Amino acid sequence: LNYLTPKSRQEVLDLLVTGLKRLEYRGYDSTGVAIDSPDNKDIVMVKRTGKVKVLEDAIQEHFSGGEYSEPVNTHVGIAHTRWATHGVPCERNSHPQRSDEGNSFVVVHNGIITNYNDVKTFLAKKGYEFESDTDTEVFAKLVHHLWKKHPNYSFRELVEQAIQQVEGAFAIAVKSKHFPGECVASRRSSPLLVGIKTKTRLATDHIPILYGKDDKKLSSDQDADSGKPQELRPHGQTRELPVLPRSESTSEFMPLEEKEVEYFFASDASAVIEHTNRVIYLEDDDVAAVRDGTLSIHRLKKSLDDPHAREITTLKMEIQQIMKGNYDYFMQKEIFEQPESVVNTMRGRVRFDGNAIVLGGIKDFIPEIKRCRRLMLIGCGTSYHSAVATRQLLEELTELPVMVELASDFLDRNTPIFRDDVCFFISQSGETADTLMALRYCKQRGALIVGITNTVGSSICRESHCGVHINAGPEIGVASTKAYTSQFISLVMFALVMSEDRLSLQQRRLEILQALSKLADQIREVLKLDSKVQELAKDLYQHKSLLIMGRGYNFATCLEGALKVKELTYMHSEGIMAGELKHGPLALVDGSMPVLMIVLRDPVYVKCMNALQQVTSRKGCPVIICEEGDEETKAFSTRHLEIPRTVDCLQGILTVIPMQLLSYHIAVLRGCDVDCPRNLAKSVTVE
Ligand code: G6P
Repeated sequence: LNYLTPKSRQEVLDLLVTGLKRLEYRGYDSTGVAIDSPDNKDIVMVKRTGKVKVLEDAIQEHFSGGEYSEPVNTHVGIAHTRWATHGVPCERNSHPQRSDEGNSFVVVHNGIITNYNDVKTFLAKKGYEFESDTDTEVFAKLVHHLWKKHPNYSFRELVEQAIQQVEGAFAIAVKSKHFPGECVASRRSSPLLVGIKTKTRLATDHIPILYGKDDKKLSSDQDADSGKPQELRPHGQTRELPVLPRSESTSEFMPLEEKEVEYFFASDASAVIEHTNRVIYLEDDDVAAVRDGTLSIHRLKKSLDDPHAREITTLKMEIQQIMKGNYDYFMQKEIFEQPESVVNTMRGRVRFDGNAIVLGGIKDFIPEIKRCRRLMLIGCGTSYHSAVATRQLLEELTELPVMVELASDFLDRNTPIFRDDVCFFISQSGETADTLMALRYCKQRGALIVGITNTVGSSICRESHCGVHINAGPEIGVASTKAYTSQFISLVMFALVMSEDRLSLQQRRLEILQALSKLADQIREVLKLDSKVQELAKDLYQHKSLLIMGRGYNFATCLEGALKVKELTYMHSEGIMAGELKHGPLALVDGSMPVLMIVLRDPVYVKCMNALQQVTSRKGCPVIICEEGDEETKAFSTRHLEIPRTVDCLQGILTVIPMQLLSYHIAVLRGCDVDCPRNLAKSVTVE
């Protein structure tokens, strides 16, 4: 929303499209934009199936010249790039979704409205006809219905009433032709922030929250007998929607009033960072409204632990960090950033000279953690694999039982959790819905919550009792790479902290600390294998399948390698625990099945050699990842990738890099979109 220097509608559209491009990694099957018509009396929408580029071309065609190039003072535009959950990717299902043919209210939405069927049935009975298969459309129509019923309500009040009726997860931005120059946004479980750009420095660093007045007066929709609001959600019935007490706040738009200001609502800081580094992270059920250069944040009810204000955070992120630079793809850039990102993870925390480690975000909780019943490590996808990778070391150095859980399965099982459990939630984005739900589940049961995330200000960060920021820098490629190695190191650092005062473990700690100090250079060495890996990719890319075998500290690399291959190349790939080979997977092995085996000089070397022999004696011709100069192991195959020697528990960092490179090169050779694999999204904010 612009109240700064006058801008033309075309310029605002450019700004929206650039914002979408920065967010494209989060979803990219269809896109759309809505902006006011030049006379402010209508809303114009353009929607397309496919990536933002397609929308950009359509916009150019649609809005070139004329009144759209004339500068105006106030604009409101909303835009969206979608990752389909309800309804196939197509123009009809892309956002913004609208309330009616006249575009009275238009909505962009992330998340899933889980009771959309109930709301839809209710609205259908009121005469609304639905044109999409999305859950989002019900929201636009619900606001419209409320507007017809309550013509004197403000835009903010209408949205606030509507969010009381919906269940599930959402981050929404709503625009209306009846309220030109205004925008209202709200969130529940899905991330949403407000970016603020002003010409001069803001005089305040927070925005006070306005609360709805909890008046006891019965509204027409309340249950006259009990005085309580009726059943809040319609559940398929036709009865009127109840209305929660309306706010009687008079200073509705007071809080941040700037003459010249631009506001941005976005699900992710990368969309706004080129305009401003000053943001407010909204909390669940906050309703943020912008009108005439003023921003207000409103909540219907005041809870006990409410801080009364939302802080304006100054982000440290730089625009260069989210640009591709000289690389062809973000993923490639992120793989090659790992010598620096692992150092950033350790920066200010590990003192190699004094062998000391301080994790500022959890240090006060260490005594409590040491007394715990067990450690639970919970995550999804790659983040889960970082837990698998470090479990053995955590067991060794903490001497505690360590459970490693996929967040979705953990929830499905209603896993028992105790007050003296310590639960780690590992998430690059800090927004993954399954992980966040698991966090809330554990928090409710009294466990100590530790967040391990890469995104400052994310939901997981904010809802944890303590935690570690992995500091890997923004990760844009959908397939996670540098976040994995940084999560890995964060958990290793935690294990080292936990064993600081254990005399019997000092030798082991020293060995690990020394290995950590050499890690960045060793990663640089591994990255030099790039052209060799590319050659290997040429041998493999036309195959249907790739088996990746290993055990011990390297089993996680097998799982993570196979995940990278699957998500990027659409080839079938399986990470196989070498110990299980003889219990089934060996049946897959013949002279033509591509196999990759990790065989390093560690406690499971002899067992890995057994597996290698089992494979070669079935005519398998594996590619071997082994240690530099290990001639004995190399003799078993003509194809090998040699990696520098490090301590056993850190091998996984060096062995995963050839796997990242291999999946990247296979994807390029197969013509796949490396940064945006089909059907996937970077941050999965739906369950
Ligand atoms: C998605 C991404 C994966 C990621 C997983 C967990 O599936 O495509 O790369 O590992 O989510 O994400 P998180 O942000 O919680 O680490």
